[in-house]
Amino acid sequence: MAARDLEQGVNDMSDGATTLAIIGGTGDLAQRKLVPALFELAYRKRIPDDLRILAYARSDFTDEQYRNFMWGKVSEFREFATHVDDWREFARRMHYIHGDLTDRASMGELKEHMHRLDGGADASGNWLFYLSIAPWFFEPALRNMSALGFADERRGWRRVVIEKPFGHDLASAVALDNLVAEVFRENQVFRIDHYLGKHMVQNLLVFRFANAIFEPIWNRNYIDNVQITVAESIPVGERGAYYDEAGVIRDMVQNHLLQLLTLVAMEPPNIADPESLRNKKVEVLQAIRRPGGAEMARNAVRGQYEGYLAEVGVREGSITPTYAALKLHVDNWRWRDVPFYLRTGKALANKVSEIVIEFQRPPHSMFSVDADGDSDGDVPSNVLRLRLQPDEGIHLGFQVKSPDTNIASMEFTDLEFHYKSAFNDHSIPEDYERLLQDALAGDASLFIRNDHIEEAWKIVDPLIEAWASGNAPPLQRYATGSWGPVAADALLARDGRAWVG
Ligand code: BG6
Repeated sequence: MAARDLEQGVNDMSDGATTLAIIGGTGDLAQRKLVPALFELAYRKRIPDDLRILAYARSDFTDEQYRNFMWGKVSEFREFATHVDDWREFARRMHYIHGDLTDRASMGELKEHMHRLDGGADASGNWLFYLSIAPWFFEPALRNMSALGFADERRGWRRVVIEKPFGHDLASAVALDNLVAEVFRENQVFRIDHYLGKHMVQNLLVFRFANAIFEPIWNRNYIDNVQITVAESIPVGERGAYYDEAGVIRDMVQNHLLQLLTLVAMEPPNIADPESLRNKKVEVLQAIRRPGGAEMARNAVRGQYEGYLAEVGVREGSITPTYAALKLHVDNWRWRDVPFYLRTGKALANKVSEIVIEFQRPPHSMFSVDADGDSDGDVPSNVLRLRLQPDEGIHLGFQVKSPDTNIASMEFTDLEFHYKSAFNDHSIPEDYERLLQDALAGDASLFIRNDHIEEAWKIVDPLIEAWASGNAPPLQRYATGSWGPVAADALLARDGRAWVG
């Protein structure tokens, strides 16, 4: 894993200037994530001074107009207003070319422009393409890239970052992967899931595998259940047309939530190289129980927030879920019969991403023995909470004796670690900063292999089909700003459990 120093990426890229081409360079992702991340990386001197950024999109901008457009967006989304001079310095490296990626001649112009930035068709230069485009554009873009020889490495390395969604089911993911393989070799391909760029996600591996005290209890003998929550307070906003096609399972569960599950559940790799890590994660997906769509749907809840149907781009009467809660099992020696509860949704009460490990209760409590000598066993379980965002940190909940009371009077308290207070002189890089830097450095540890993507589709496809066929419990409405449908509480209550927190 990327245990190497953050600065090292700069050295890895030292053999020739690099151009990062953002295909879809005016879109939401470019505005909110990619360009701010690149600005931050440049500001912190974590990318080489000669890295050039070339945005490609339909709008008819000059370089200068694009820079101004981006500054308008970037300063709106992030608090960069104090860095105007740094922005001007950074913006000089941003170029723009307008075009239509479905048109081969236009993509040819993009290629010529990349050569021009290198100093001519015979000059050396590395190219990283970032496909930040709607799913239906992948195919024409890749076909044109193939025909135009975008992967030819005679003048420098060539890589491509592919944004999710990677297909909309198993069959389309396989087809897309075949197409990608026609253009690029596997070591040129970086399939991104930005959750892997989150600091606490990487810390999960350090926490599990660099501390001897947790691993012995990280199994079915001590853990009662695992809960993964990725709650968002924002509604679908301007992404209604995309979202209504995708729904919560494709948008969040197939990728981000299953990624988190694999990191919690994986076996320790022998070494932290990309392939060992990715092998162990795929093994977890392969072990996830596949009970069939109807059974999965019985162990799942789908919800839609009130007001969703009025969002721009959403189809009339749409039953696309914006919330999902589900129970999964990992059928292997370590996890057999430990439920993994996953939940995620839009327009919820808070934005919070958290992994909760609920340990088993003490088997007998000497503190709550009744007159017959029976323990009612009501001492709460220990809880380990790994907070991904906001306020990255770790909480370990345990019992203490209340002060100045008899011994049976206990309170639940937390041992807490927060990145912000523990390392207050270091800012935590944003997910896209980490991942862009890794892609530029050629480190694929935090990117996804195609077999992972395909296994993940195999897990969720039956549920999506069951929901579409109606062979499933109905869609629940939930109020904006709530914690989702009450049926999600009932899902755990059936097992005698409750969501923690
Ligand atoms: C994206 C989804 O992949 O992740 C969005 O398409 C979602 O719908 C986003 O809002 C959440 O990411 P984060 O980093 O804000 O938790």
